[in-house]
Amino acid sequence: MSPMIHRGAGILAMMTIALFMLATLTSELLAPAQTIAQVKAWILFPGLLVLIPALALTGASGTRLARHGRTPTLRGKQRRMALIAANGLLILVPCAVLLARWSANAEFDSGFYLLQGVELLAGGVNLTLLGLNFRAGLRLAAARRSLATEH
Ligand code: HEM
Repeated sequence: MSPMIHRGAGILAMMTIALFMLATLTSELLAPAQTIAQVKAWILFPGLLVLIPALALTGASGTRLARHGRTPTLRGKQRRMALIAANGLLILVPCAVLLARWSANAEFDSGFYLLQGVELLAGGVNLTLLGLNFRAGLRLAAARRSLATEH
């Protein structure tokens, strides 16, 4: 699979998470309860319908690009990708579901804001891990290109 698809899927995943965080923060700081609930509903659908396939495509295409190599850089990318997936499925998706449900019922109690904090933290961790993988990927691509011009 082409590195372009891999890179594009990674960019889409990072932009989606950044958009979720931005929409969450701005709506909760500035908007009425109904808007917050709307943002939370959009994050579930169509938001996750974009994010989850983008992450799966990033991981699958990356694994395919890496099928002939076993360098520490690649192991690092694989380890970070596993953390991204675990964090997404075990923390971020359950948070998004609960926060959407609570905001739809206008339950903005301390439990809501505590979980909101957890979600923002976990989102920030995933964005950072994605950024580290992106940077490592650009280095891999540069190394591949300089090898190609040597031959
Ligand atoms: C299991 C996880 C991953 C593996 C094994 C992996 C592996 C690779 C490999 C082998 C390349 C070099 C491709 C080449 O130029 O020949 C690459 C490039 C790249 N990777 Fe990953 N990757 C993974 C996840 C990610 C993630 C999560 C991101 C970013 C969000 C990412 C971003 C990039 C970028 C930007 C490139 C450069 C593509 C180009 O322009 O040529 N990778 N990756």
